[in-house]
Amino acid sequence: MFNLPRGTRDFSSKEMQKRRYIEEIMRSTFNSYGYNEIQTPTFETLELFKAKSGQEIMEELYFFKDKGNRDLALRPELTAPVIRFYVDKLQMEPKPIKLFYFGNCYRYDRPQKGRYREFRQAGCEIIGTNSPQAYAELITLAYKILENSGVADLKLNIGNLTILSSIFNQYKLTRDQQKYLIPLIDKSLFDDILIALKDFGIKSADAENLIDLLQSTDLKTIKNFLKDDSVKNEIEQLEQTLRLLEKAFGIKNYQIQMNIVRGLDYYKGIVFEIEAPILGAEKQLCGGGAYELISLFGGREAPSAGFAIGFDRTIVALESENYEFPITKLDIYVIPLGEDIIEIAIQIVQTLRNKGFTVDLDLLNRGLGKSLKYASSLNAKNVIIIGSNEIEQDSVTIRDMETGKQKLIKIKDIAEFIC
Ligand code: HAM
Repeated sequence: MFNLPRGTRDFSSKEMQKRRYIEEIMRSTFNSYGYNEIQTPTFETLELFKAKSGQEIMEELYFFKDKGNRDLALRPELTAPVIRFYVDKLQMEPKPIKLFYFGNCYRYDRPQKGRYREFRQAGCEIIGTNSPQAYAELITLAYKILENSGVADLKLNIGNLTILSSIFNQYKLTRDQQKYLIPLIDKSLFDDILIALKDFGIKSADAENLIDLLQSTDLKTIKNFLKDDSVKNEIEQLEQTLRLLEKAFGIKNYQIQMNIVRGLDYYKGIVFEIEAPILGAEKQLCGGGAYELISLFGGREAPSAGFAIGFDRTIVALESENYEFPITKLDIYVIPLGEDIIEIAIQIVQTLRNKGFTVDLDLLNRGLGKSLKYASSLNAKNVIIIGSNEIEQDSVTIRDMETGKQKLIKIKDIAEFIC
């Protein structure tokens, strides 16, 4: 009768169990790195997202007018909202400030596997430091969240937009020319880049050299090429970040990749992406880096960096790698045999729930056979059967659903027996 809006999904209780399980691993990893969770609204003023990206972002935004004629938009990401929150209320807090969030985002993307119009991000922002140890820790955190979640095959690519722009400047490429090249670089369309560079009047040998630099995974080659002294500091910072990443945090599985340009306009300096190669086209699980938004939003400029992990893609990657999600089981299913037993059965259920067990109770009075079938469809570990015989002895029958073995246990000893 009614269809789901394109690019959105329903999640069954089985899928929600998987999602909550992975979300908890991610949350506890954020916590273990000293990050604190925050939440911002699902919609914001349209201006917030246009402030940096201008009219271009409208293509991918869900925006609307509310009944008071205000222009609003569903958030396409959470960095701009978090920085708005920071400028408004958190500027006076001791630095660095480490914030993390989970939230649904909305983009008018072309839906396909791993690409949705409503999707969930797990992300974080660190404000008030641009030290190499902060960046190395940030990248480690992104990597560890995915590793702890169970994704087996990960590829971490690290780039730097200040260095990339210095390479462009050395080739005397104008702003417009750079703007034209960026989407091509993002998609690694090197043949098209070569044609464009030739159109811009760059000699063949120089154009090929530039393409080699964009594909280079060796920082030394890039360092030797760059003549501009002002970028030296950025390179040294990057080298120190990589040293700490490798030697102190133990993350050796990474590559320098100068062709990381990132889709959003606010980045400056170090940027990184993590991919799950098993996913093919939509393989990017995480993207982030250093950026400048605070002064644009009216705050006192402070260094800031962060990343966001595509939560849905992480689940798709785990499923593609045949990850075994734990099955959530119900501790106890209680079956009262007869109307007169319901009251005492409810008292037993409530006592066990208060002790922390997950407990469900037969609400249909449909007899033992059908109730046992229903209990096994709920993945119950134990069934408590209460009939008048049991009550006469202040006891219940406990059935272990795995072995099928049954035992008569005193009501006061149920919790201890089941533990
Ligand atoms: P982003 O690269 O646009 O960065 O998004 C981060 C991640 O969200 C992507 O790597 C991808 O896994 C997931 N994602 C993006 N679009 C979709 C979609 N349509 N369907 C499913 N998943 C998607 C940001 O959003 C920045 N705010 C990250 C950041 C935080 N940078 C600094 N701080």
